[in-house]
Amino acid sequence: MTDFEGLNALVTGGASGIGRATAELLAARGAHVAVLDLDPSGVAGPLRAYPADVTDDTAVRAAVAAAAADLGGLDVLVNNAGIGAQGTVADHDDAQWRAVLDVNVLGLVRTTRAALPHLRRSAHAAIVNTCSIAATAGLPRRALYSASKGAVLSLTLAMAADHVREGIRVNCVNPGTVDTPWVGRLLDAAPDPAAERAALEARQPTGRLVSAEEVAAAIAYLASPLSGATTGTALAVDGGMQGLRLRPPAPR
Ligand SMILES: NC(=O)c1ccc[n+]([C@@H]2O[C@H](COP(=O)([O-])OP(=O)(O)OC[C@H]3O[C@@H](n4cnc5c(N)ncnc54)[C@H](O)[C@@H]3O)[C@@H](O)[C@H]2O)c1
Repeated sequence: MTDFEGLNALVTGGASGIGRATAELLAARGAHVAVLDLDPSGVAGPLRAYPADVTDDTAVRAAVAAAAADLGGLDVLVNNAGIGAQGTVADHDDAQWRAVLDVNVLGLVRTTRAALPHLRRSAHAAIVNTCSIAATAGLPRRALYSASKGAVLSLTLAMAADHVREGIRVNCVNPGTVDTPWVGRLLDAAPDPAAERAALEARQPTGRLVSAEEVAAAIAYLASPLSGATTGTALAVDGGMQGLRLRPPAPR
C-alpha cells in the first residue's frame, strides 16, 4: 500500500522500539521519513536522522527546520519520544517529576510548535501522539508516568480542537505493554525477569505483549490520508487490556 506516497513524516524517538517500527512502516508505505532522536546513530536506509533532545527547544527547532527543508515540507508528525518512571506519587522528588514531564509532555509541545507552520501548508496534515494505557487505567507504581500520559491524552483532544479548522488532524494511540527495548530494560531490572514478563503478558487479555509493529500500524492508520475524518481519538492497541473484563481461565 502506498497511501503515504508524496508525503513527508517526522517521527520523534524514531531510533528504537515503536518509533523505529513506525518510521520504517511509513517509509515502506511511500513516505519520506525523518527521525528525530537523542541518538539516531543506528538509523539507516531510507530514513534520515536528526539528532536532538526534545527537552532542548533550540535543538528541536533546528532539527524540525532541517528535516522540513531536506524533505521539502512536513505532512505527518509522530510525537513518540518518551521515557518511563516507576513509583507511587511519593517516590519521586520534584526534579524527577520535572525531568519526565519535560520529555513526555513538553517534548511533544516543542516538536509540535516547531512543526505547525509546516503542517499548515500540507493538504494532508496529521499529528499522532504516542500516549499509553496508563492514561486511561490506574496501573500500580506508575504515578508520574501516568500523569505525563494523562496530559498527552488531554493535549491530543485540545490540539485536535485547536487545529481542525486548519486541516490538521490530531489523534493518539494508547498501547498496552509493548515488546520494545524499553520493556526489555524494565524486565532486566526486575528481581525475576521471567516472572515479571509472565505477569505483564497475563495482564493483557490476548495473553501476550503487543508488538512495536502493531502499534506502528495503528499510528500509520491514524496518520494516513485515508483517515481524513478521524480526529480527536485515542486508539487502544493493548490486547484488550482497557476494554475487556475476562473471567479467569477455567481450571484444566
Ligand atoms: N513499550 C511500552 O510498553 C509502551 C507502552 C505504552 C506507551 N509507550 C510509549 O511509546 C513511546 C516509545 O516507547 P518505546 O517502548 O518504543 O521506547 P524505546 O526506549 O525503545 O524508544 C524510545 C526512543 O525515544 C528516544 N528518546 C528518549 N528520550 C528522548 C529525548 N529527550 N529526546 C529525543 N529522543 C528521546 C530514545 O532515544 C529512543 O530511541 C514512549 O512515548 C512510551 O511512553 C511505550
